[in-house]
Amino acid sequence: MSAEEILTRINDSLDHLVDGKQPVGLYEPIRYVLSIGGKRIRPTLMILAYNLYKDKLQEIMPAAIALETYHNYTLLHDDLMDNADMRRGKATVHKKWNANTAILSGDSMLVLAYQLMAQSDAHMLPAVLNTFTKTALEIGEGQQFDMDFETRDDVAEEEYIEMIRLKTSVLLACALKIGAILGGAPQADIDNLYKFGEQIGLAFQLQDDYLDVYGDPSVFGKKIGGDITSNKKTFMLIQALNKATGNQRSELIRWINADTFDRDEKVAAVTRIYNELQVDRLAQDKISYYFNESQRFLDAVNIPSERKEELKRYALRMMNRTY
Ligand code: IPE
Ligand code: IPE
Ligand code: MG
Ligand code: MG
Ligand code: MG
Repeated sequence: MSAEEILTRINDSLDHLVDGKQPVGLYEPIRYVLSIGGKRIRPTLMILAYNLYKDKLQEIMPAAIALETYHNYTLLHDDLMDNADMRRGKATVHKKWNANTAILSGDSMLVLAYQLMAQSDAHMLPAVLNTFTKTALEIGEGQQFDMDFETRDDVAEEEYIEMIRLKTSVLLACALKIGAILGGAPQADIDNLYKFGEQIGLAFQLQDDYLDVYGDPSVFGKKIGGDITSNKKTFMLIQALNKATGNQRSELIRWINADTFDRDEKVAAVTRIYNELQVDRLAQDKISYYFNESQRFLDAVNIPSERKEELKRYALRMMNRTY
């Protein structure tokens, strides 16, 4: 099945997830966030991994929809925590409604995700739920590190990589792993697909951080400069703090420590420092590095290479994204 067909099926299914449910105050924000787009990378990866072994879409669909619902739950809470007002080109749930709505509709999406995941084949269910639960806990850990790092200025590159592995990579890895488990893959393939997801996930989050500064505001869908505004210790900021000297360094530190500032002015100033230090190029190199690493694990999956074509193509497309 092509990634395009998979996307259509996922969207059709998500469109009806909370049809007719009451109260509207709880379910309308869920319907809203699920209907305003999104790349659907996690369920697509899951189905593509499953398709390496099996073609029965109806068997994998609940788990795929579960994972996308879970992902969207993390976005509702993440936007509240990051104080972000735009996502997928639209107002975030806590802006359109309020913080309480983002909390409760988000929590309910987490529960819905478990309800859907539990519909997986009974034989595989323990393995599926173990993987999902371990991942969900790790994502909370990653999110907390991300928040803790905002107020530190000595975050090392290795700490950043571990933080993004936890907050982002493990969900992509989990998607591929659950797809492989439900497809009946041998353990060695399951492990290689997980590692493929982990490495491509690192590239994916590095790219998210890059786009947060250098993305085209008309397509990115989130407000450019959010990470700079909140002093997120992205790879680029860590590199800039490592490389900057003299006036450049004092200027960077002044912006990081400023309690009150004009948002656009801070974003422009920090971006200029990034450009001068060429940390954008360092980020691009890192993205390529992790993408190449990911390919080694995909190549090691013990399946004829024609059968891996669709997944390989999709991974390449992920790396050329603009939003
Ligand atoms: C956003 O994920 C959160 C990150 C892990 C960077 P996506 O970039 O997959 O967001 P959508 O679902 O396509 O909107
Ligand atoms: C993504 O982190 C991680 C999770 C949502 C768990 P970001 O905070 O970078 O994601 P965006 O940029 O808001 O999508
Ligand atoms: Mg965010
Ligand atoms: Mg965040
Ligand atoms: Mg981001």
